[in-house]
Amino acid sequence: MMSAPRHRAHFKKPTWVFLFIFLVSLFLVCAYVYPPRNTAACYVFSSASCKALTDWLPPAPARDLTDEEVASRVVIRDILNTPPAISKPPKIAFMFLIPGALPFEKLWDKFFQGHEDRFSVYVHASKEKPVHTSRFFLDREIRSEKVVWGGISMIDAERRLLANALKDPDNQHFVLLSDSCVPLHDFDYVHNYLIYTNVSYIDKFRDPGPHGSGRYSERMLPEVEKKDFHKGAQWFTMKRQHALIITADSLYYTLFRDFCKPGMEGNKNCYPDEHYLPTFFHMLNPLGIANWSVTHVDWSEGKWHPKSYKAADVSMELVKNITSLTENVHVTSDERKEIQIRPCLWNGEKRPCYLFARKFLPETLDKMVLLFSNYTTYT
Ligand SMILES: *[C@@H]1O[C@H](CO)[C@@H](O)[C@H](O)[C@H]1NC(C)=O
Ligand SMILES: *[C@@H]1O[C@H](CO)[C@@H](O)[C@H](O)[C@H]1NC(C)=O
Ligand SMILES: *[C@@H]1O[C@H](CO)[C@@H](O)[C@H](O)[C@H]1NC(C)=O
Ligand SMILES: *[C@@H]1O[C@H](CO)[C@@H](O)[C@H](O)[C@H]1NC(C)=O
Repeated sequence: MMSAPRHRAHFKKPTWVFLFIFLVSLFLVCAYVYPPRNTAACYVFSSASCKALTDWLPPAPARDLTDEEVASRVVIRDILNTPPAISKPPKIAFMFLIPGALPFEKLWDKFFQGHEDRFSVYVHASKEKPVHTSRFFLDREIRSEKVVWGGISMIDAERRLLANALKDPDNQHFVLLSDSCVPLHDFDYVHNYLIYTNVSYIDKFRDPGPHGSGRYSERMLPEVEKKDFHKGAQWFTMKRQHALIITADSLYYTLFRDFCKPGMEGNKNCYPDEHYLPTFFHMLNPLGIANWSVTHVDWSEGKWHPKSYKAADVSMELVKNITSLTENVHVTSDERKEIQIRPCLWNGEKRPCYLFARKFLPETLDKMVLLFSNYTTYT
């Protein structure tokens, strides 16, 4: 009689151990076969143990790609593996995305002067046809459409510029510029920097905050996962192959058109011009981009808009300060406000980051024209 309970207890303990081991194994197998799509599953545990768990698990089997993804990727891979025929001399396409007037035409005229066979100009004037003062801009307008700030029409205009510029087979590198952009170096320096680089200067960083991943919509699944969603300034320069794949892409473009827009899901504002290119290149050719933009802008005032330079701000010292920067800075929008600082590497060597700068008010024109020969000689 006395031994019965003891015997039962003796039997019960290993059963519990086996049961426990069985349940843990079952959980691990499930976690492996059905990896959590988002971090919600991690709330079951503390985030630290969840991270430890996912580190310990072997990488999850790759999901099946959709038909569209298979097709897109094969086209993109082929374009990337086909080196472009190098024309002589290779040209740079300067693509101006502007509402109407181009206040810095006189400055660009000085910049282009004497280099006629090594560049081409394209103008997308979305509001009114500009009156030109420089011969380099005459009859360079492409068919344009209205551009709504923060909307997909911005990407449409960029793609329209790329497609038109691709028509000239001599164009090897493509630069997007706004009406407030100015050149920081002379033409030879810029041409050399862009033609002999092995990457596109597309800005990209990971921002876990509300103005970064916070704008992601799960309706982009399965093609775009939250971990792929990146942010960056829209002012790019890109190699011909990259211009081609952006022109060819309809899959990712469509997802951003439909699921990244201002006023989405509960007032979430997503701006495709800040996310489409960084996310696209992060997913499809992360080693092919520099992760910073060669167009400088000053966010240091910490306001909603970057600093606009007035005539009184413009001096040789300002230009020297900007052209001497050799590190790029990104700040996240979460509470930590993490500052990410990286060196600017040109074919592996440290070099100044910036070729252009923006948010120069029209009133700075005369001063910039006066300074141009000086700073292109002495910087
Ligand atoms: C850009 O960032 C990716 C990682 O996100 C990295 O693999 C790549 O090397 C970076 N590009 C350069 C030129 O440093
Ligand atoms: C240039 O940089 C120096 C050193 O950071 C700074 O003290 C100065 O105010 C800057 N000048 C202009 C015009 O930005
Ligand atoms: C670009 O050149 C650097 C230095 O030679 C090299 O480390 C890097 O892998 C190259 N990137 C590409 C995309 O070819
Ligand atoms: C340009 O440089 C020359 C020679 O250094 C100098 O004499 C002149 O004052 C400079 N002009 C301006 C506008 O800074």
